[in-house]
Amino acid sequence: MIYRLAPAIVAAVLTSSLTYAQGDPAKAQQIVTQVCAACHGADGNSAIPANPSLAGQHFEYLLKQLTNFKPQAGKPAERVNAVMSGMVTSLSAEDMSNLAAYFAGQKAKPRAARDPELARLGQSIYRGGIMSKGVPACASCHAPNGAGIPAQFPRLAGQYAEYTAAQLKVFRGGERANDPNSMMRTIAAKLSDKEISAVAEYVAGLR
Ligand code: HEC
Ligand code: HEC
Repeated sequence: MIYRLAPAIVAAVLTSSLTYAQGDPAKAQQIVTQVCAACHGADGNSAIPANPSLAGQHFEYLLKQLTNFKPQAGKPAERVNAVMSGMVTSLSAEDMSNLAAYFAGQKAKPRAARDPELARLGQSIYRGGIMSKGVPACASCHAPNGAGIPAQFPRLAGQYAEYTAAQLKVFRGGERANDPNSMMRTIAAKLSDKEISAVAEYVAGLR
């Protein structure tokens, strides 16, 4: 009678699937040290602007990105990046879950905006959008302080301006197309280079 499992076994199965769904940061430690730390920092605070900081990013978003970098069930990868596609080939779904839990649990180091004038333009876009172009306020999805809103809307606060601007440009050009309902592609398509630099500069200084 397979369906009459002892309660202890049922409890064990439930616990392990729960851990799997949420990730176990301790199990990620070895991969972090051997692979990810070189580019993203051992504590998820990257030292290089081209490599995003991952510290304090939401678990669900990190897991989605790792999954999106890897081709799934014969379908091409939803997020295309030559560096990261190489990183995820050997990761299992469980590894990804553990890694997402690890970086979500790290503390993001604050960063300051470097160009106050550019950041002021960025602030007005971030908080109020650009009415004349139909650009919505970034704050409505990414929260006024840039902390994002789990599970769907990632944290932007304290991210390198270079990385944020690069993502807005690949959304605009359609090379990054893993945003649900084209949410970010639609918005980025309406932004000029100057507006992208400004809003990226502003979010770098959010904390
Ligand atoms: C050789 C450098 C390098 C290594 C090693 C590396 N990454 Fe990355 N990672 C990058 C770059 C560059 C990007 C930005 C990709 C893009 O522009 O789309 C990135 C992006 C990401 C993102 C998406 C972040 C976001 O905000 O959307 C996640 C998650 C990530 N990496 C996790 C990892 C994990 C976990 C490891 C270890 C298994 C790892 N990376 C190893 C360079 C690296
Ligand atoms: C309608 C909701 C919505 C609005 C408004 C919005 N975003 Fe987003 N944004 C998203 C979603 C959803 C994602 C995650 C896409 C994914 O799953 O890969 C995202 C992702 C991003 C990313 C990628 C983060 C990373 O770590 O790679 C950046 C950068 C970004 N948004 C910037 C902005 C800026 C700047 C604005 C305002 C001009 C804005 N967003 C307005 C929904 C929104």
